[in-house]
Order: sequence, then C-alpha cells, then structure tokens
Amino acid sequence: MKAASDMHNQDIDYAVIGGTGLYRLEGLENIRRVAMDTPYGMPSGAVVCGDFKGCRFAFLARHGENHEWAPHRVNYRANVHALHALGARQVIGVNAVGGIRSDMAPRILAVPDQIIDYTHGRASSFCDVEGAQVQHVDFTEPYDAALRKDLLEAASAVGVSVIDGGCYGATQGPRLETRAEIERMRRDGCDLVGMTGMPEAVLARELEMPYACLALVANWAAGCGEAEVISIEQILEHLEAATAQVPNILSALPFPR
Ligand code: HPA
Repeated sequence: MKAASDMHNQDIDYAVIGGTGLYRLEGLENIRRVAMDTPYGMPSGAVVCGDFKGCRFAFLARHGENHEWAPHRVNYRANVHALHALGARQVIGVNAVGGIRSDMAPRILAVPDQIIDYTHGRASSFCDVEGAQVQHVDFTEPYDAALRKDLLEAASAVGVSVIDGGCYGATQGPRLETRAEIERMRRDGCDLVGMTGMPEAVLARELEMPYACLALVANWAAGCGEAEVISIEQILEHLEAATAQVPNILSALPFPR
C-alpha cells in the first residue's frame, strides 16, 4: 500500500473515473495496479495505470470494481486526491445520467457545460479539515473548456455523436428522483440528472486539475419518457450500449499539450 505522499509523479496524461457500467478500460496496456491511501482515506479501489493509444492513462472505478460504493458513500476526496498524487494532468469523469431535455434520450452521450448541485452531506472540499487553508475557488465554468473541446473533437474523429453542452443536475441518490423533483430540475435549467457529478468536479478544481464529464444517458429521468417506472434492466441495457463507445472516444484524445 502506498501513501499518497510517497507516490512519485507518474505523469498521467489522462485520468478516467469510470461510473456505473464502466469498471475497467478495455485496451489499457502495461498495466500497474496502484493501491493507495490518502489523507482523506481510501479511494474506491486501486488506480489502474497503463498505456492507452500512446498516452499514459490512469483508471479508477468510482463505485469500486464490484460496484460496492453507492453514490453518496463514494470517497470523492480520496479518489481525486489519489489521482492528483499520481500526477494526473487532467481528469475525465464518465457518468451515467437520466435524460431530462427532449434530445437527451437513452444511449445519447453528452459533454455537459454546467452543473447544479442538489447533493448534501458529502465531503465536498479539501479545506474542511482542521488547519487547511480556506479556498473559494472560481467555479463559474465548472468544466475545463479545453478538455471538453478535446473530448468533443475525439468523439467526432471516431464518428460518435455527442451532444455539446447541457446542465448536469447532481442529486443525492441512491434512489431515483420523483416526477416533481425532475419537473423542478427542468424548471431550474437541468438537462441531465446524475448522482456522482458532484463533488468530484469541484474537488478537481480545488487541486487545479482540468476536469470534464462524459455523460452517458441510461434512461429518461422520472416522468420524462413513456414508462411509468424506470427499470434497472433497461438502464443497464442502454448503459452497456453507450459505454461501448467510451474507449473509442478516449482512443482519439490528443497527446496533451
Ligand atoms: N437519476 C439520477 N441518476 C441517474 C439516473 C437518473 O434517472 N439515471 C442514471 N443515473
């Protein structure tokens, strides 16, 4: 077990945090699994480092490799801190979401550009430990513009259609939302709903790591589609189809500037 402070800078070009349905990165070569401890506790699992299409990648399954961590119990601080300690230059969060806007249908991929945070009670800053320097980071644009552009261009280069933009509403989970909650979120301006987009994005910002989200639409959000109830089987089926595109997109990312 390595303490985060013992890690040498690995110069990771891209770190990927995989969400529901994405537990490993197919095609990662020369793999090294790094089990780490951090000042914030243990990450969700080992960080898997390796080479991917000529770039150094690190992969971490947000919910654990066996999906053992529910969204509200994920140790987001440990995850982000571990990737930073490994020398990740930028982070791509892959997140399963429900679609609220009419074009955000199941199996669609999107790179959102805004966030509304409805989560509560999560450790959402590195500066809420005693003695830490208080930070008020700018979060006007929560996602990194250059990394968003790289993701969109990579998708386009491999012929995968991805929606550019959208507001990600982050809910507490683990339950899905009520119809009224989704109606309120729509009025607020949310286009997508997921449970894991925050505080991951702001923690990356606190550590000055560029961060972007690749959202995979798994279902219509509550009350948005034809179905009276949201079926987990359907979610997993749609997610599997959308997830299959992810390695393709990542393979076309540019060598970091
Ligand atoms: N709501 C919240 N999170 C989700 C959903 C949803 O409908 N689908 C996948 N993740």
